[in-house]
Amino acid sequence: MNADPQRAASSAGFAVVCEQLAKAYPTPTGSVPALRGVDLAVRTREVMFLVGPSGCGKTTLISIVAGVLRRDAGRCTIFDVDPESLPSAQATAFRRDHIGFVFQSYNLIPSLSVRDNVSIPLLLQRAKPRDAAKTAQRSLELVGLSDQADKMPSELSGGQQQRVAIARAIVHSPRLIVCDEPTSALDHTTGRDIMKLLRSLVLERGTTLIVVTHDRRIYEYADRIAEMDDGRITGIRASSSVIVEGTAP
Ligand SMILES: Nc1ncnc2c1ncn2[C@@H]1O[C@H](COP(=O)(O)OP(=O)(O)O)[C@@H](O)[C@H]1O
Ligand SMILES: [Mg+2]
Repeated sequence: MNADPQRAASSAGFAVVCEQLAKAYPTPTGSVPALRGVDLAVRTREVMFLVGPSGCGKTTLISIVAGVLRRDAGRCTIFDVDPESLPSAQATAFRRDHIGFVFQSYNLIPSLSVRDNVSIPLLLQRAKPRDAAKTAQRSLELVGLSDQADKMPSELSGGQQQRVAIARAIVHSPRLIVCDEPTSALDHTTGRDIMKLLRSLVLERGTTLIVVTHDRRIYEYADRIAEMDDGRITGIRASSSVIVEGTAP
């Protein structure tokens, strides 16, 4: 991967740089502003938490960063690349290869088994189905669900489905993982195990992590915490007690 000039250029710098990002949602009763000029820079290998009241724009912001939503104005580069400025096939390939996204609502495909859901990012990269299934199985082991691989999503609890979504987001070793409330359906111990796992990816794979959360119990896993309110970043502070873990649970 060191031969990749984009990686070399960004390794000393920033994984994500947003400048004056703006977004509003058109509705029948008028435009609803969600982002009003967001500036945010996340360093390579950093764990950045994003916190703030419901409706302040957290999901909108990370959806734009992950490329599942288009901005209205401003700029957003991921490892020095602005995917929105690329032709659409290249933008899709860039996101597919470099970004893992854990949706707030999990977004599992109900008609596919747990293992097949987790295999999707690899199949999109044209991995052989048998290899994809093996790698998916390992990813499920990391989130503690290796014995659930043959089940359908509807047979799992909400917390288990959330962990499947995390297994799917990390299965292809993306350089950036963006998680929307990844511990919201998990008990305290499982939530901490998941954060330890995600932090271990930062150490072992050099991943950059952005985590939207309301869960104060996991704040200690952040390097920095960005606070949002009413469509803007209102402050960024260093986390007071960072836990560094090198081993997956
Ligand atoms: N699809 C949508 N259509 C209209 N308004 C939306 C839509 N999604 C979000 N919003 C509005 O945009 C604002 C920011 O929402 P969101 O990014 O989901 O905030 P958060 O994740 O912090 O709760 C809120 O006022 C919300 O009601
Ligand atoms: Mg949200």
